[in-house]
Amino acid sequence: MTAIVRGSGGNPANAADEGVCLALGTMGSAESTIASACRTETTFTANGRPVRVELDPRESLLDVLRERLGLTGTKKGCDHGQCGACTVHLNGRRIVSCLTPAVQVNGQAVTTIEGVADADGTLHPLQEAFIDNDALQCGYCTPGQVMSGLACIAEGHAGSDDEIREYLSGNLCRCGAYAGILAAVRETARRLNSPVSEG
Ligand code: FES
Ligand code: FES
Repeated sequence: MTAIVRGSGGNPANAADEGVCLALGTMGSAESTIASACRTETTFTANGRPVRVELDPRESLLDVLRERLGLTGTKKGCDHGQCGACTVHLNGRRIVSCLTPAVQVNGQAVTTIEGVADADGTLHPLQEAFIDNDALQCGYCTPGQVMSGLACIAEGHAGSDDEIREYLSGNLCRCGAYAGILAAVRETARRLNSPVSEG
């Protein structure tokens, strides 16, 4: 018996055209064969380095970064778009990589926490500010906080403490290091000539 499993609804005959992955399985025998019918090649840059991966369209960018490319600085927290631990930049804009299909970044530029410091290891001012302000405890949320903090400053959303809080609200910290994180972003915004008013 052959089972057809669709990744989402639709006519199986049109599934490949729709980017839906069909897994064809031969069931009911000792040897069960699973063949992916729609693996696709995706190319993009990761921290400036050209990358080419053959992947299942259902794979998230987060899993590809961590499991295929070894860029484990990007963390998996909720895997549901709710914690911000997986935040990376796509063409300079922040995204949650757990909800981004890797095929969607084809031809685009991805930056992860590994790409933030200079090539010689010199930390970005925001990374230094995280250290100086004790903006972390366990550190699990920190890569996502830094990527969001960088975007917050670049977007011009670091004009006040309230604004910083609002634009970092998608990044949760179970350790409660929020005061340090706020101070680090505030200090860096000032240092990069983007004044922040208190309150
Ligand atoms: S792991 Fe992506 S938002 Fe939580
Ligand atoms: S420092 Fe532990 S979760 Fe934020």
